[in-house]
Amino acid sequence: MSQQNYIPDDAPFTAEQRQWLNGLVSNFINDLTSGRGLNGQDSAPVVPVTILIGSQTGNSEALGKKLSKAMAKMNFKPVLVDLGSYEKEKLPTEQNVLIITSTYGDGEPPDNAADFHEWILSDAAPSLEGVNFSILSLGDTEYPDFCKCGIEFDERFEQLGATRIFPRVDCDVEFDDEFEAWKKGVLDALGASAALVVVEDESSEDGFNKKNPFPAPILKNVNLNTNGPRETHHIEFSLEGSGLKYEVGDALGVYPCNDEAIVDEILGNVNFKAKEEVPLPGGGESTLRDALIHSYDIRNINKTFIQKWQKRSGSPYLRALVESDDKAAYDDYCYGREVVDLITDHPADFSDAEEFVGSLKKLQPRLYSISSSPNAHPNEVHLTVGIVRYESKHRSRGGVCSTFLSDRANEANPGVFLHSNNAFRLPTDGDTPVIMVGPGTGIAPFRAFLEERKVAEAKGGNWLFFGNPHEADDFLYQDELTQMQSDGVLTKLSTAFSRDQKEKIYVQDRMLEAGAELWKWLNEANASFYVCGDASRMAKDVDAALHAIAQEHGGLSEEASAAFVKQLKKEKRYCRDVY
Ligand SMILES: Cc1cc2nc3c(=O)[nH]c(=O)nc-3n(C[C@H](O)[C@H](O)[C@H](O)COP(=O)(O)OP(=O)(O)OC[C@H]3O[C@@H](n4cnc5c(N)ncnc54)[C@H](O)[C@@H]3O)c2cc1C
Ligand SMILES: Cc1cc2nc3c(=O)[nH]c(=O)nc-3n(C[C@H](O)[C@H](O)[C@H](O)COP(=O)(O)O)c2cc1C
Repeated sequence: MSQQNYIPDDAPFTAEQRQWLNGLVSNFINDLTSGRGLNGQDSAPVVPVTILIGSQTGNSEALGKKLSKAMAKMNFKPVLVDLGSYEKEKLPTEQNVLIITSTYGDGEPPDNAADFHEWILSDAAPSLEGVNFSILSLGDTEYPDFCKCGIEFDERFEQLGATRIFPRVDCDVEFDDEFEAWKKGVLDALGASAALVVVEDESSEDGFNKKNPFPAPILKNVNLNTNGPRETHHIEFSLEGSGLKYEVGDALGVYPCNDEAIVDEILGNVNFKAKEEVPLPGGGESTLRDALIHSYDIRNINKTFIQKWQKRSGSPYLRALVESDDKAAYDDYCYGREVVDLITDHPADFSDAEEFVGSLKKLQPRLYSISSSPNAHPNEVHLTVGIVRYESKHRSRGGVCSTFLSDRANEANPGVFLHSNNAFRLPTDGDTPVIMVGPGTGIAPFRAFLEERKVAEAKGGNWLFFGNPHEADDFLYQDELTQMQSDGVLTKLSTAFSRDQKEKIYVQDRMLEAGAELWKWLNEANASFYVCGDASRMAKDVDAALHAIAQEHGGLSEEASAAFVKQLKKEKRYCRDVY
């Protein structure tokens, strides 16, 4: 068989060189197309892997995408599936299943995993013999039910006969190292061909991200509350020159700085000099004072922290607390106290500043739902931030990031990054009506939704439920909302000002009052339903109201209303951004 010519006749080679090069390229192409590796080595067989994602705010989803991308470059055929869309019947026939899931609420699965979670834990779950699996569990050690959803999946898969190919890894808020370790373990266990393992590091990616935040100038920072004790700031950042792009529904991560007055109080009560060099949590060094302002969490204290502190403190009180190992006693002590309280009330004798900062956790960024549409405000991103201030243990205190943004950030160009949230998107069809329930700062993404629908000239109706204590003081974005009503963008505005009358009225009460119409929007006009804001009570009450409306106005039984709501979630017509 004559050899194909890959090297053009006019290329600057002799005939002999051209023939040799044509042979080389031909062998190279044959090796690739025959499934063999380079140099004729047999490449590993292609391994099918299903990666299932349980994610509320996008962290697990982002890791799933990274894993899938890396696996696709190796000897794997990864299929990445949102747990909410996964056809459960396939599970017993899968060869290799990897689950990456977070935990939400009080130890609950994220919304998109709720249905799968209920099914797999029920008696209806099938035998999983022959299925290989491993779990990466995302969570936060500040919550009592740390990583509960991942733990439950892990235990249940084992009970159902599946084979754990690599032990579950539970991740705290800093999950990159744990993810890499789990990824490596899983790839090895699945027989990744070592020659093809690709290592990727976000910090080496171009552009601004969580590891390389953009210093964003603040363009505007105003309190939206007129009087009274509540403070909610509307903050506009410039993204000019950052290259950062977002969609409505996304969140913005903000790196705060601790209050310098508290840092100086801490420094006044320890034996180390403010200018001493100490290691930073992410590598590198800085002075102790700068490290306490920018890099270490001097606010949250928990059991682990107290145990470390007690070893260096002669305090009989702390010794008794640690010896009791009583969770309620720990919670009671930690609530409303910070590092500065321990320093002043129970001084500790650390050997040096390095050991002292070694007892502290890394200062974490906070997420905020974006309240602007990039199409209405190019090169800007807006937030709606409730400022946390309270009295506790005879001291005025404030939330780290919210008070930073309100009191200390205007000249500081805070470091920000975008946090994509695909689980909270407007319907792609602009004709689809949307119902938005967003009391308090929960209004944030809905201001963005309304701006976006206005720019896009979307025809679908927009119904907003907003609530706060008093209409006179706390009607956030009142002028804008009134304007949107007269422009015809905001079709319906239902407000619940809880303390303007004798009995308390909340958004869920307004939903129930308007139940017949709400049911029509949902059932006849196929509206999408969104909730944003307080997770602990509001989101649960709104969920209960939705079920009640389906029963009363849809004539559904309790089970049928639950199935209706489940179906809404499955169709991504019931989306929540709650915190
Ligand atoms: C996806 C997502 C979106 C979010 N979107 C928004 C948003 O749009 N707007 C918004 O304002 N927030 C939003 N948040 C919340 C935000 O991320 C922060 O949690 C919030 O601003 C508080 O942070 P902080 O640093 O000010 O307070 P922290 O320093 O974290 O302190 C808060 C803690 O203070 C303690 N505390 C508060 N009050 C008291 C009291 N009376 N007594 C004792 N202890 C108390 C509690 O332990 C509480 O957890 C969102 C969160 C998530 C996860
Ligand atoms: C409102 C709220 C509730 C949470 N509840 C828990 C919890 O009960 N247990 C836990 O381990 N983590 C909890 N977390 C932390 C998340 O699991 C963690 O932030 C995770 O990285 C989120 O991943 P996701 O973006 O994929 O959902 C909670 C976070 C929020 C904002």
